[in-house]
Amino acid sequence: MNSNNQPIGIFDSGVGGTSIWSAVHDLLPNEQTIYLADSKNAPYGQKPKEDIIALSIKNTEYLLDLNCKLIVVACNTATTNAIQELRKRYTVPFIGIEPAIKPAVTHSKTQVIGILATQGTLNSDLFHSTVAKYQNTKIIEQVGHGLVPLIESGAMNSPEMTALLLSYLTPMIAANIDYLVLGCSHYPYLIPQIKKILPAHIQIIDSGQAVARQTQFVLQEKVGLSDLHEPEPIFYTNTNPRVLQEIIGAPFKVSAKDF
Ligand code: DGL
Repeated sequence: MNSNNQPIGIFDSGVGGTSIWSAVHDLLPNEQTIYLADSKNAPYGQKPKEDIIALSIKNTEYLLDLNCKLIVVACNTATTNAIQELRKRYTVPFIGIEPAIKPAVTHSKTQVIGILATQGTLNSDLFHSTVAKYQNTKIIEQVGHGLVPLIESGAMNSPEMTALLLSYLTPMIAANIDYLVLGCSHYPYLIPQIKKILPAHIQIIDSGQAVARQTQFVLQEKVGLSDLHEPEPIFYTNTNPRVLQEIIGAPFKVSAKDF
């Protein structure tokens, strides 16, 4: 496979997909990445499927205009509701992110696992068809109402966040889960707080590393890897850049754009 120095495009409804960007960037530091935070339209999780598809098309076209060679849909809600439509419309490869149910079910000893995700993900056909494969394990589904807006507004460590997490996780602990699947790319930023609530034997799983490995595989096999040397990642947001800038930290720079 020849090298290909076009950028990788990554989008999410907001700042959360940077948890995926970070895994991709760590594994593939020589790839030029362009990250779009569609925070103006966050949260996607409560929107109807047609709106999630329309927003995903808008983000994809912006990234394609920037000459991206592959697109990572760094949002479970957009993946489970829109990736099939995106793949029908565009020839560029798409890597999606879905809740990591399979590893949790495979390793669970109590045969009870919990999943925290958006309403849009838990209601999607793709999620239902995944869950239907695992009849022998009890899967406790919980919508993370309110979590994404708090993260987007910079209130990640607020007392409101602690109260919401306690209310969502306490029933799962009582039901004897031994795995908690984080089914939203915003939630890995809550892991330090979640760990304070969960007993130590409960494992937390997210999908960032798996997405990064799949991205690497598709680049190697189909698209071509970059031979640039550690290019500067690009971050665009369509709201005030403050929260995204805080999350990614220096030395990276966020620019405001209208998309
Ligand atoms: N980060 C997104 C996800 O992975 C969506 C959160 C939202 O906008 O509701 O589902």
